[in-house]
Amino acid sequence: MCGIVAYLGSKPAQNLLLEGLKRLEYRGYDSAGLAVVDRSGLRVIKAVGRVSNLEDALEDLGGLQGSLGIAHTRWATHGGVTESNAHPHRDDRHGIAIVHNGIIENYAAIKTYLEDKGHTFTSQTDTEVLAMLISELYAPAEGVDLFAAVQAALKEVTGAYAIAVVCEKEPNTLVVARKGSPLMVGIGNNEFIVASDASAIVAHTTQAFALDDYNVVRITHDGFKTADINNVPVTPKIMQLEFELQEIELGGYAHFMQKEIHEQPKSLANCLRGRIDRRDGKIILGGLAPLAKDLTRARRIILTAQGTALHAAMIGEYLFEDLAKVPAVAEYASEFRYRNPIVEEGSVVVAVSQSGETADTLAALSEAKERGAIALGVINVVGSSIARETDAGVYLRVGPEIGVASTKAFTGQVAALTMIALFLGRRRFTSADQTADLLAHLEAVPDKIARALEHDALVRKVAERYCERENWLFLGRGYNYPTALEGALKLKEISYIHAEGMPAAEMKHGPIALINEGMPAVFIANKGRQYDKVMSNIQEVKSRGGHIIAVATEGDTDITKYAQDVLYIPDIPEPLSPLLTVIPLQLLAYHAAVLRGHDVDKPRNLAKSVTVE
Ligand code: G6P
Repeated sequence: MCGIVAYLGSKPAQNLLLEGLKRLEYRGYDSAGLAVVDRSGLRVIKAVGRVSNLEDALEDLGGLQGSLGIAHTRWATHGGVTESNAHPHRDDRHGIAIVHNGIIENYAAIKTYLEDKGHTFTSQTDTEVLAMLISELYAPAEGVDLFAAVQAALKEVTGAYAIAVVCEKEPNTLVVARKGSPLMVGIGNNEFIVASDASAIVAHTTQAFALDDYNVVRITHDGFKTADINNVPVTPKIMQLEFELQEIELGGYAHFMQKEIHEQPKSLANCLRGRIDRRDGKIILGGLAPLAKDLTRARRIILTAQGTALHAAMIGEYLFEDLAKVPAVAEYASEFRYRNPIVEEGSVVVAVSQSGETADTLAALSEAKERGAIALGVINVVGSSIARETDAGVYLRVGPEIGVASTKAFTGQVAALTMIALFLGRRRFTSADQTADLLAHLEAVPDKIARALEHDALVRKVAERYCERENWLFLGRGYNYPTALEGALKLKEISYIHAEGMPAAEMKHGPIALINEGMPAVFIANKGRQYDKVMSNIQEVKSRGGHIIAVATEGDTDITKYAQDVLYIPDIPEPLSPLLTVIPLQLLAYHAAVLRGHDVDKPRNLAKSVTVE
């Protein structure tokens, strides 16, 4: 939720840290700060608001010298958005500073203990407690250096953390550690860049390793040493970061969300590439191969996720029942994990997540595994916590998603779930010919998304017409009921317009009372089994004064009799239709937000990756 970047090398740390913070700002943006150690000691500067405010504050001070530093961009969990609650936090004795992502759950008890020991706190954060605890344990004269003090402190805490720590008494040392919150060490040429997200590393090096839970790393100019909190040595697995710098830059677009919406023909083509064998009517998913037999015998599939990923999971529920004939259910991870779920033999749990770090999704997955389920991941970020917790999985391969409102990850998730459903269906009962037909349509999806995107200017006009309205409805049936939920969520997230998504038939059971003159009602009315029923629902809203915006299939001219505005998508079989119907809804939300003057990529109160429950 927050972003960490740290540097040890020979270049001046400040600008490198600021540049890293800007790349991580999408993960949290209510305050930022950095600490640099040089020969004269530790300097900490913080500012409320965006990273640019921190940059201004540093400029006013004439900048910080030093080639060792830590930095943070925050999304508040403990304590309000103030300068004193911003990171880095310092101790009160040794010149120690720390940045932290996650939550120290037992911070209150530790704080009381430390207050009794005479420490004075200046913030309301759990992180300051950790800084003081490290300080309390730090005793270089007795052989407890910064690395050992961090290890000792982490033995006392419960909760989640990714931390980077420096101490002015050890100006050649950076200590970083992780449990439950991502952290990665980039290995450059005589320099190290640590970050919570690879996007802050790739500009400097593509060689990196991800920390495992309870790993603590000591980084010095001579190299690095990794051990766990009990000082058992660990050999990290060094990997090659695969994405290019241009993937995390705007490249001529006004916003990352806009770029990511328009990237979907390409991202979906990447997601499908090499996985479709049309000739044999087969899906090739290397990540599932080791478990193919167990999966074929699956008796129930539980899909679990949060946010947009849950909407993809809900489409997955339809796909698994329809294409693979396996009973399936999609559920909020946050609800699943706490309701004593029944996980029968033969259950497969599928965790769907862009980041692979969502705390609730990770916890739900662990709960299901504990109860004997096979764990699959449908994840974008390679090597993320959820990906590592699963027995097998399918990566989305849609590239890094920076916009807080998820778009290309959603279509990637739906495509991946479609492929898993076809993979199972083909092994269970579908013939090669039946599968090949759908595969041909699936292969055509990237081009059809490109066609749907051609209506961008028209969608903007519709957004202009209605963007001042404060209440919207999004209605759909079957496969496109979850798409309606997703359309409403997109509008809420970035336009701050109240929108409700629901099954079109449910409207009559209450929400129809909301319809008044001119209220925008977006209907997903593509050609399919329930088209006629949707048309009846449209008329029910229209006759009560609602303004109908319909997402319809190209060639459907009848719909213009009922809808004031029609957004067309190419014809496509129903199980694949959400991959297209969502496109105009993403564009609608994007344009409405821009027209209302909002910061599309950094919507208020939201975080890209929610790593706390
Ligand atoms: C946050 C993001 C959403 C995202 C959800 C789940 O709320 O703002 O866009 O859908 O988390 O994230 P995940 O990384 O698990 O897909």
